[in-house]
Amino acid sequence: MAHPMARHAILPRTAPFEDKERASLDAVLGAATPIQRAWLAGFLAGLDAAGGQPAAVPAAPPKAAEPLTILFASESGNSEKLAGDLAKLARKNGFKPKVVDFFDLDVASLAKEKHVVAIAATWGEGEPPARATRAYGELMGEGAPRLDGIDFAVLSLGDTSYAEFCAIGKALDARFEALGAKRAYERADLDLDFDKPAAEWIKNTLKALTPPPSADNVVAVDFAARAVEDDEEAEPSREPKVVEVVDHVNLNSSRSDKETIHLALEFEDGAPAYEPGDSLEIYPENDPALVDEILAATGLSGDAALRQALLSERDITTLSATTVERFAKATGHAEAQKLIDSGEAKAWIEGRHLIDLIQSFPATVTADHLTTITRPLPPRAYSIASSRKEVGDEVHLVIAAVRYETHGRARAGVASTHVADRVKNGAKLRVKLKPNRHFRLPQDPSTDIIMVGPGTGVAPFRAFVQERRAVEAPGRSWLFFGDRHFTHDFLYQLEWQEALEDGSLTKIDVAFSRDQPEKVYVQDRIAQHARELVEWLDGGASFYVCGDANRMAKDVRNAVVRAYATVKSLTDADAEAAVAALERAHRYQQDVY
Ligand SMILES: Cc1cc2nc3c(=O)[nH]c(=O)nc-3n(C[C@H](O)[C@H](O)[C@H](O)COP(=O)(O)OP(=O)(O)OC[C@H]3O[C@@H](n4cnc5c(N)ncnc54)[C@H](O)[C@@H]3O)c2cc1C
Ligand SMILES: Cc1cc2nc3c(=O)[nH]c(=O)nc-3n(C[C@H](O)[C@H](O)[C@H](O)COP(=O)(O)O)c2cc1C
Repeated sequence: MAHPMARHAILPRTAPFEDKERASLDAVLGAATPIQRAWLAGFLAGLDAAGGQPAAVPAAPPKAAEPLTILFASESGNSEKLAGDLAKLARKNGFKPKVVDFFDLDVASLAKEKHVVAIAATWGEGEPPARATRAYGELMGEGAPRLDGIDFAVLSLGDTSYAEFCAIGKALDARFEALGAKRAYERADLDLDFDKPAAEWIKNTLKALTPPPSADNVVAVDFAARAVEDDEEAEPSREPKVVEVVDHVNLNSSRSDKETIHLALEFEDGAPAYEPGDSLEIYPENDPALVDEILAATGLSGDAALRQALLSERDITTLSATTVERFAKATGHAEAQKLIDSGEAKAWIEGRHLIDLIQSFPATVTADHLTTITRPLPPRAYSIASSRKEVGDEVHLVIAAVRYETHGRARAGVASTHVADRVKNGAKLRVKLKPNRHFRLPQDPSTDIIMVGPGTGVAPFRAFVQERRAVEAPGRSWLFFGDRHFTHDFLYQLEWQEALEDGSLTKIDVAFSRDQPEKVYVQDRIAQHARELVEWLDGGASFYVCGDANRMAKDVRNAVVRAYATVKSLTDADAEAAVAALERAHRYQQDVY
């Protein structure tokens, strides 16, 4: 009797196999994609060339695997992670991927590539991630090479709550095309819930980049690639973990106009293997009072399931142009639609939240509408303020409560006030580790470190100092701290004094902006100590900045450039080059937000 798979027969009857073996091979080959068949051909050729054993060196291939250059521009690691995911899948599908950080990108050499995929995040107010600034500028500038003959695709990451949503991905996509490259797959602009759409985009992009099968594009198997994969760092779990709050203290005095919570969290099954410099994401809950206000405004107060979803699953504060569009579509509200059509939505949403939209444009809103117009509630990142070597299975965070008023209404930051107002000792929180391998202590503990961390920016430096104390690092440590008032806002003052005494901190310079008529900031202290700072840097010190991205980090960088210019009598260009060289040597690192 004929084998059931015989109708898909691929191997000829003359193939040197038993009937049963031939049927089995036909079953596998019949279902295989062209790229899988090509891979198998390369694999078998390589195996023979290596004497029947998978070799440590690439086998002589019938034809090289398709090269694929994956660029990423990332600040907090999301684009970098996706670049890694893409590389893994690409390798499995017969490509030879090369992952390049924009930080290391030689723009001139791009012209030599064949397939380029760029994954880019947008930061600041529509700016590239700091580490990508140089290469991004070169690619956008007049000296950029022509990219004719290159197939490309761009994936952009962003956050719809920002006015310049995915600006960098959009600009790169247009730039590749303008330089002559051919778009292989449409750009996707993804919001914070990018996991699933990014995986889908990656799959489709690889499909689009895969050359049609032919006899001469048999894919080579790079046996070395397996070793690379095996060596890859174990990924932290993508699932959030539940932790218990074991300490909750306001670090500001009761007379401060700020509220900064020191939070100690304990992991039930042991803390994940975090390093100083990493962050922890908190999955917050919305303010129940705001949830009830939204339910009342929509006449949905009796819906308990909806209430729970609005509390813990949906983003019920952010108002983006997308939210207004979805609201207008779902409710058919003509005035809300007019806001979109007239182009006024962008200005109207400034400083407003979902509740303003619902109250300003009364309409029949159902539970389904509320779900479709809101996005999933995103977690918030917090720099870890502890070292495992000192706190064991705990993680410490420093969280400033965000409170302000716009359009006559008091507003509260979702996660920070959840922690400040509604979380107490014994409470549970859902969290996830967010590693940051670009913000790390020097490998050599005898290297000096300079840390600039005003406000909550001091968090990772508490971890740095704890770590260096635990390993008895011989290197010197210098902290610049700043806040509003010495008496009310000197976060961890006693701990810094102890650290100075035990030698884990060598120097501290503080700037309290509101203790004198003229404002004084950390960058002013850097200017005052320019000579000593340059001496430390010339002696090999590493420089770290954490905290506010919009003003502080830029002002601090300018202050370091000025320090080089004055102390060494350099031109502005040479002083800038000196700081750029520190950055390229990973000796000027920042973690800013
Ligand atoms: C890598 C990283 C590390 C971080 N580390 C820390 C840390 O150690 N400690 C810490 O406290 N934070 C840290 N943050 C910031 C933190 O993630 C949150 O963004 C912050 O706590 C606010 O979140 P929220 O949910 O309370 O506020 P949200 O609900 O997200 O609201 C914040 C938004 O409110 C608006 N807003 C805020 N103030 C005003 C104002 N005065 N006027 C008008 N609009 C305003 C802005 O649109 C702002 O984006 C870090 C961020 C990153 C990316
Ligand atoms: C301080 C800050 C500023 C941001 N600015 C923007 C922005 O202007 N436009 C945007 O679309 N997304 C913005 N984002 C969102 C990031 O692009 C988004 O979180 C992205 O997933 C980060 O990717 P990365 O981890 O690869 O850097 C900003 C995020 C932060 C924390």
